[in-house]
Amino acid sequence: MKKVAVVGAGYVGLTTGAALAYLGHRVVVLDVDEARVEGLRQGVLPFFEPHLREVLALAQGRIRFTARYEEAIPQAEVVFLAVGTPPGPKGGPDLSQVQAAAEAIGRHLGEGFTVVVNKSTVPVGSGNFVEALVRRAYAQAHGGELDGRLAVASNPEFLREGQALYDSFYPDRIVVGAEDPRAVAALRELYEPVLEQSFPPPPFLPRPERMGAVPFLTTDLASAELIKYAANAFLALKISFINELAALAERVGADIREVARGIGLDSRIGPRFLQAGLGWGGSCFPKDTLALLAMGEEAGVPLPIVEAARRVNFAQRQRVVGKLQEALGTLRGRTIALLGLAFKPHTDDLRESPALELAALLLERGAFVRAHDPVALPRARREVALPLEYAETPEALLRGADAAVLATDWPEYRTWPWGSLRALFRTPLVVDARNHLDGEELLRLGYRYLGVGVPQ
Ligand code: NAD
Ligand code: UGA
Repeated sequence: MKKVAVVGAGYVGLTTGAALAYLGHRVVVLDVDEARVEGLRQGVLPFFEPHLREVLALAQGRIRFTARYEEAIPQAEVVFLAVGTPPGPKGGPDLSQVQAAAEAIGRHLGEGFTVVVNKSTVPVGSGNFVEALVRRAYAQAHGGELDGRLAVASNPEFLREGQALYDSFYPDRIVVGAEDPRAVAALRELYEPVLEQSFPPPPFLPRPERMGAVPFLTTDLASAELIKYAANAFLALKISFINELAALAERVGADIREVARGIGLDSRIGPRFLQAGLGWGGSCFPKDTLALLAMGEEAGVPLPIVEAARRVNFAQRQRVVGKLQEALGTLRGRTIALLGLAFKPHTDDLRESPALELAALLLERGAFVRAHDPVALPRARREVALPLEYAETPEALLRGADAAVLATDWPEYRTWPWGSLRALFRTPLVVDARNHLDGEELLRLGYRYLGVGVPQ
């Protein structure tokens, strides 16, 4: 079992730390946000993520939290960098958190051999950048060289929020980019229980049927770094493609759900990430497609497919506005009830949420926007600057509404008592921007129902 430090207690760092500690490693999770660390020590989680609390409980005794580098780094054999890489002013990511963390790691490295592993999503070349920063900071702090006591690796993370623990225990693959075979060996050993699926699954996260050994892809640093952006961009353009065809399907009388099913059965295409809707959002696809474009520009290689995927994506919010405008005549003074604020279900993450972008467009056109979310309301009240009204119950949300727009596909919206709720509407119009509700049932209940890419 290894001694691990994870730098950054965000979605990736905390999940990774919890999963590794569950697997038996000794983990220290470090964050510069002292309030966050204090909260974690008291059992207060900084965000909503299914099963995180239970996994942390099962890992108790093997995981600690600190805000002090000297308490995490000197003893660690493997140090993960899992700090944020938000979009910078020119499209490429702002690497200031990575830089600060790498320098602090360098200042605090101990006497043993350490592998510093980049799990943050960073542009090609960042592995070398991190290595140089760590070595320089060590030399400045200690007056000697690290020489062979440091190896750097890239280990991109592919987890999805809302399914982060599931993805950590049952990943499709683990990718490691490194030039030093000792780094590869350390990470293979660290991940062995996952690679071999030899750990006892937590009772609430059973191993999927037919789960075999997990592929361990070892490659060079640059390729590992590019794999991460390529994967996110490919998933994003898959969604944009189905959204583009959804507009065509609507016009020619086809049903995009049938089209997605029909093409998804082709094993070369696959059924996932073909759900037409409001377009993608969140802290990753928007940021990472932008970063890929910035990388392309710097390298003198235009990436028109990625550009088009972004264009189609952001136009998807406008399409929903257009539908509402057409149905209601004008949006000025209308009350629009928004079902969902999080960028996807099973999270309270509001970063680049399509629901919020839609809300902003509706407000611009003079509508009143009243919003509901099963878990993200407290966070929205704290963090959202838009003049939204918030509703805790279906009744409070829908009373006097001119239309309801489903923006986040939370399962519970399907089970709302739509029959009795209808009387609350001023006009019983439902725009289902995720094709999530039972449209036929809503039509039967007397609603006007408009989905995405389905016969209107
Ligand atoms: P986050 O913003 O939730 O968390 C980052 C954490 O790092 C914060 O708690 C912050 O206080 C801390 N931090 C900042 N500077 C620090 C420093 N110098 N030392 C120690 N801690 C510091 O970020 P996230 O969503 O977990 O993403 C982290 C990285 O992983 C990003 O590069 C992201 O693109 C990538 N990623 C994210 C996801 C996801 O689903 N969120 C999935 C895969 C990859
Ligand atoms: C995404 C990737 O799926 C992860 O593999 C990756 O690790 C992560 O980004 C990252 O790099 O941070 P995440 O953003 O958590 O994960 O969520 P997804 O499930 O990918 O959804 C992203 C967006 O696409 C959401 O707004 C979702 O509603 C939308 N989406 C997804 C669709 O509109 N249609 C689909 O078929 C699937």
